[in-house]
Amino acid sequence: MADTKSMGVVGSGQMGSGIAQLGAVHGIDVWLIDSDPDALARASKSISSSIQRLVSKAQLSQAAGTSALGRLRFTTNLEELCSADVIIEAIVESEDVKKKLFLELDKIAKRSAILASNTSSISITRLASVTSRPRQVIGMHFMNPPPIMKLVEIVRGADTSDETFNVTKALAERFGKTVICSQDYSGFIVNRILMPMINEAFFTLFTGIATKEDIDTGMKLGTNHPMGPLQLADFIGLDVCLSIMKVLHAGLGDSKYAPCPLLVQYVDAGRLGRKRGIGVYDYSKPSPRL
Ligand code: NAI
Repeated sequence: MADTKSMGVVGSGQMGSGIAQLGAVHGIDVWLIDSDPDALARASKSISSSIQRLVSKAQLSQAAGTSALGRLRFTTNLEELCSADVIIEAIVESEDVKKKLFLELDKIAKRSAILASNTSSISITRLASVTSRPRQVIGMHFMNPPPIMKLVEIVRGADTSDETFNVTKALAERFGKTVICSQDYSGFIVNRILMPMINEAFFTLFTGIATKEDIDTGMKLGTNHPMGPLQLADFIGLDVCLSIMKVLHAGLGDSKYAPCPLLVQYVDAGRLGRKRGIGVYDYSKPSPRL
């Protein structure tokens, strides 16, 4: 089984920047790509400060931190991925946009390359279907934030080969992650269970049953979750939560997955959560005491 030496990450937002950091810290040459140069600039800054934090906490030596930063390159040019062993897609959660990218990646990537998606819910089989290499397409679903969270959920499409699975699993384990494996059905394991809970928290707020603070405190202290569901939704991004609910609703065909109108309205209003400074909570004010 070939060892991964070079990696491409497409999408340099919350997830892509963290995945790129993991690769660089674990000795892999990484190209980080985004269509938006400002997103790349933000990613470069956030990775540098994240690595600096690891150095100051003595979790990484200064030399290892400097080498990791030296292994990272940033560009808007997808063609740079022509020699990557593994390409991980972490762009917007839209099937049409992801398919368009997979079509392009299939043309650019070398024949042996694996194309992985960090999608939270979209069918790997359908993403694979637009490529000429469905055996080499797989879901590699990191949790947020990727450098910290210990889990990677690997999703096998209908045609994903054992070799692709083994290389992807080895890569996740090299990053120090525990791997779980899901069949390719809407929402996989984690979001199939998590997102209906978050959606239900929105319904609880929408129907006036409780305040946002009481909903979050209830779930934190009542069920020992580290974060309340509405806080977690802000952390994930309300646009990402809404996209996942739409995939669950369409894919599983049950009205219980219909997105809460309040979640839809917040996204329409641009209240996307922490990344925009406002979601369920307003982050321009002192942090909510929950
Ligand atoms: P984000 O909104 O922070 O970043 C997405 C980035 O992709 C943006 O910088 C955007 O400019 C870029 N982009 C969009 N279309 C592009 C294209 N065609 N080519 C190149 N770059 C493009 O989103 P986030 O939160 O990082 O999510 C990315 C993916 O990861 C989604 O599929 C999401 O479902 C998944 N995910 C998100 C988690 C979360 O907690 N936010 C957790 C696990 C997975």
